[in-house]
Parts: sequence; C-alpha cells; structure tokens
Amino acid sequence: MLPVNSTTDKSLNLLQRPRRLRRTASLRRMVRENTLTVNDLIYPMFIIEGEGQKVEITSMPGCYRYSVDLLLKEIAEVSELGINAIALFPVISNHKKDDTGTESYNPEGLVQQAVKAIKQTVPDIVVITDVALDPFTTHGHDGLVDEKGNILNDPTVEVLVKMALSQAESGADFVAPSDMMDGRVGAIRQALDAEGYINVGILAYSAKYASAYYGPFRDALDSAPTFGDKKTYQMDVANAKEALKEVELDIVEGADIVMVKPALAYLDIICQVKEATNLPVAAYNVSGEYAMIKAAAQMGWIDEKQVILETLTSMKRAGADLILTYFAKEVALMLL
Ligand code: PBG
Repeated sequence: MLPVNSTTDKSLNLLQRPRRLRRTASLRRMVRENTLTVNDLIYPMFIIEGEGQKVEITSMPGCYRYSVDLLLKEIAEVSELGINAIALFPVISNHKKDDTGTESYNPEGLVQQAVKAIKQTVPDIVVITDVALDPFTTHGHDGLVDEKGNILNDPTVEVLVKMALSQAESGADFVAPSDMMDGRVGAIRQALDAEGYINVGILAYSAKYASAYYGPFRDALDSAPTFGDKKTYQMDVANAKEALKEVELDIVEGADIVMVKPALAYLDIICQVKEATNLPVAAYNVSGEYAMIKAAAQMGWIDEKQVILETLTSMKRAGADLILTYFAKEVALMLL
C-alpha cells in the first residue's frame, strides 16, 4: 500500500478553509453563533385538583399533572435548576365545565389557587397563566359558541378579560392569551391597566396555527373539541404573511412578548417575526413535537439528548429569545 501523501505540495491552494474553525471543540465554541442557556427556557406545567397527585400523561412521557401541593415541590426544584419561568395549564374536572367557561374566572379556581401558593413559596419564579376557555368549556373550544356552532369573538373577549383579571389578582406575572380571538390583547391590556395591574405583562400567542401537533396537550387536559376544529380562529398552516399581521396587531394592542406556535414546523415564521419586531420573541415547542422525540427515543431510534439540544438550538438560531418547552427541566439538568 502506498502511504497517504499529506505533504502540502499536492494540496489545493485554498485561501479560505472553513474547516480550520471546526478543528477543535475550543475553536468551535469560540465561533459558535447561538448558545442555548437555561435563561431561554419556560416550563409549561399541568395542574390537577386534589392532594398528593402526580399523574403521568400517556402521550407525553415524563410530563405529569400535579396537584398544587406537589406542584410547589416541583417548582422549587425547577427554580433551583435556574429555570426562570413556568406556564400553567389547569386540568378541570368535567362537572366544573360549562358552555361559557365560568370556572375560568373563579377567584378560588385551580389556577388562581396555584398562583397564590406559588407566589408564597417560590416568589421569584415568573408565573405565566394561560388565557383561553378550552380547559373550562364542555365543548372544548377556546371561545363561546352560538347555536349554529360559530365561535363568537367579542363576547369571548369579555370572558377572557375577566379571566386575565382574576389571574392578575392572584399574582400572575404574565398572562398569555392563547385563544386567537381578535382584539383580546388590547382589551386585556386596557382592563389590566384600569384595575392598576400596570406591571402584569402580556405574552401573546400571536401567530398560533391550527396545528395537529397539539394532540397530546388536548389529551393531557381532556379538552379536544367535541365538534368541528379550531380553524376559524387559529391560523392556516399555509400562511406566513398573516403571521406578521397578527404580530403587528398584538404589538399595537400592547403585547410585551410575541409568540409563534408550534415551533419546529414554523422556524421560518420565527425567523420572519424576529426580523419584524424588537420585542422578545417566544417559540412554543408544543406537545406533539415533544411526543415525537420521546417516542422515537423510546424505540431506540434516535439519540434523545442530542436531538433535544439540536431541536431547541434550531429554534434559537431561527430567532427565538424564549422557548416554552416540556423538555425544560431535562435541558436545565443537561446544561448544569
Ligand atoms: C389552548 C392551548 C393549546 C395549547 C396551549 N394552549 C391547544 C389548542 O389550542 O388546542 C397547546 C400546547 C401544546 O400542544 O403543547 N388554548
């Protein structure tokens, strides 16, 4: 066998050799453009009634519904790991649901109780509460429904305002309207200000698509719509310019942070939104994105840890400043 000739006499005369910057781990770290940190993460968490309850969500392995007592313990751990913020989602028992979602603004409701307890025990963690009716309605839609099955916009906004106010009253730092009704950000901002909650922020689900990736979340909440779909209020998956219009409206109406949801199939939208605004941009790495990785990892088909980090880094590279992700705790542990 001839020895491999590594002398320079036969090398191409290249002035640029990009591989020079990839040669060692130190060099790669030096020129790395985007780095995922624990400060980027927001942890969505599910709450159930009762005490001593921790129930795994079948289609989201590793995610649990916690009763408030155990939720507090989990949040203390999460905070210890350096995660700055959580987003809360309640699982409401069926007998408390009705057509108009009145439980959503019950001052003693599950979310309201949880927020008060969190603020007493882990006061520093940023608490974000979801504003939408689907966990509270018998029909599972995010808004009020008329006799023909239409989702009513303006009457829904009135209920959302009550809901946001009761969350602010309980001590929420941010309210996060995820319903996609027109004008809700402005109505909520005005109401919060009128009641003196000028420092309660709005994380707006601005470009929220009518996505099949929400399936496991609807299992978690038992909130799948009993009829129809959400396509008259959530966005058409084929649209990009419309996302910019929604973002622009939410900014004009008073949003503090704008969000794109889902994230992985919408990296182009994250990128465009980031270019269109100076506000922080959040991306929601949703339940179906989580479930796909978990399922493939359980089958032994992918390297779970590497795929999680690659996926979340791709969202940062696209322009996300913040990522809501069910992987938050796992990632915080990986980044320690
Ligand atoms: C409902 C809401 C949904 C999610 C967050 N808030 C589901 C939906 O719109 O049907 C989905 C989150 C996820 O899939 O992880 N307002």
